[in-house]
Amino acid sequence: MKMNTFYIHTMGCQMNEYDSDFLAQALVRMGYAPTRDPNEASVILINTCMVRAKAEQKAMSALGRYSRIKKRRPHIVLGVVGCLAQKKGHLLLDRFPQVDMVLGPRETGRIAEAVSAVMKNRERTLAISLETLPPAPSFTTDYFKGRVTGCISIMQGCNNFCAYCIVPYVRGREVSRPPGDILAEAGRLVSQGVREITLLGQNVNSYRWKGEGGVKDFTGLLEEMDRLDGLLRLRFTTSHPKDLSDRLIECFGRLKILCPHIHLPFQAGSDRILAAMKRDYTRDQYMRLVEKLRRVRPDVAVTSDVMVGFPGETREDFLLTLDLMERVQFDSLFSFKYSDRSGTLAEKLEGKVDESEKDRRLRRLQELQRSITLKKNEALKDRVTEVLVEGFSKKGGQLSGRTGTNKIVNFDGPPEWIGRVVNVRITAAFVNSLRGVASCEQAA
Ligand code: 5AD
Ligand code: SF4
Repeated sequence: MKMNTFYIHTMGCQMNEYDSDFLAQALVRMGYAPTRDPNEASVILINTCMVRAKAEQKAMSALGRYSRIKKRRPHIVLGVVGCLAQKKGHLLLDRFPQVDMVLGPRETGRIAEAVSAVMKNRERTLAISLETLPPAPSFTTDYFKGRVTGCISIMQGCNNFCAYCIVPYVRGREVSRPPGDILAEAGRLVSQGVREITLLGQNVNSYRWKGEGGVKDFTGLLEEMDRLDGLLRLRFTTSHPKDLSDRLIECFGRLKILCPHIHLPFQAGSDRILAAMKRDYTRDQYMRLVEKLRRVRPDVAVTSDVMVGFPGETREDFLLTLDLMERVQFDSLFSFKYSDRSGTLAEKLEGKVDESEKDRRLRRLQELQRSITLKKNEALKDRVTEVLVEGFSKKGGQLSGRTGTNKIVNFDGPPEWIGRVVNVRITAAFVNSLRGVASCEQAA
């Protein structure tokens, strides 16, 4: 008999990737097998994002595409999950008669129940509560076998309400997961061969758990992760500058497996814009944090998020963003044009910036960052650096891994090195990757 299969299309951030892994494991437990072809899947899930208008448009057009598949094959299950599902809720069920379920990011734990309801009575499910606690995955399958890196969500939601951001409205208020659950999940990943774990949360710095064993903050959690047998590398994302404590900064000099990399979004270089964004720090405070980090760990790589064209952003404000970039010298940067999100504070602000002006600013900003990234990468030439090998390079043929500073390195070597840390001498630098040769003196 042909096996029942599922296909999950994941858009957006690492949190969505994590949620998709959770959904996939739940479907595996129900007896479904993954397929790469949506045209043959018995269950299709779209895990959506709506952080910017473009992400929302992409999700809507994917939904149209999968609805057409379902029109041809009406017996299958079609579900929308994630942030767009949360925001649009029943509107999606009304507009897309092919959709069988709409589950918000907090409701992924109901996937099995929702799929069964469709299978049994073609019953549709709408689950978009923001009060539900994040599900605790307790699977013992070998789902992660063959992966070198993995992620663990340590908290859900966000309490910050930055003026531009939709996340607090679609992922609810902050809730931290119990440390015991997180450590057990980490142990399961490691036992399946994962060597590097990234702890995920919208604002991991405000992780806080109060339970039987007392209170645990984020540094306490990092300390416990640092003691985990078999784990070679630890990362976390995302940090909010306003909550980056000295104790956490000190972890970069103290914890043996914490990678020398921090993603610390700055968003804008003008104090006036930062205040309008409700970010709760100034450009000087941000730059002092980076200085402190570099004092504790001189080789730390700092990456960031920035946007251009926030309402009211003048040319002078924009030049201050470029100035901050010149001063800080980020290793790399994710840059975006401000996008109106309905229901946010910024949507109602005056002084919206022209789309063409946003384009010009973004282009200029990205040009500057390209030159900084390239300069930083070129400084690594002839140096030997430790690379955790994750698999094969995109073009194939070579091994591919990352440095502790999160830079991609491609080099020749045998497949047995996948999952191992290898010393690599860097021979060529590009904007998005490095090339190297395995060095003679290999780490154990
Ligand atoms: N418009 C543009 N960029 C945004 N981001 C979040 N909301 C918006 C928006 N409305 C960016 C921020 C954030 C990253 C994940 O996405 O830079 O750090
Ligand atoms: Fe992730 Fe935010 Fe997009 Fe949701 S809206 S998927 S939290 S980036």
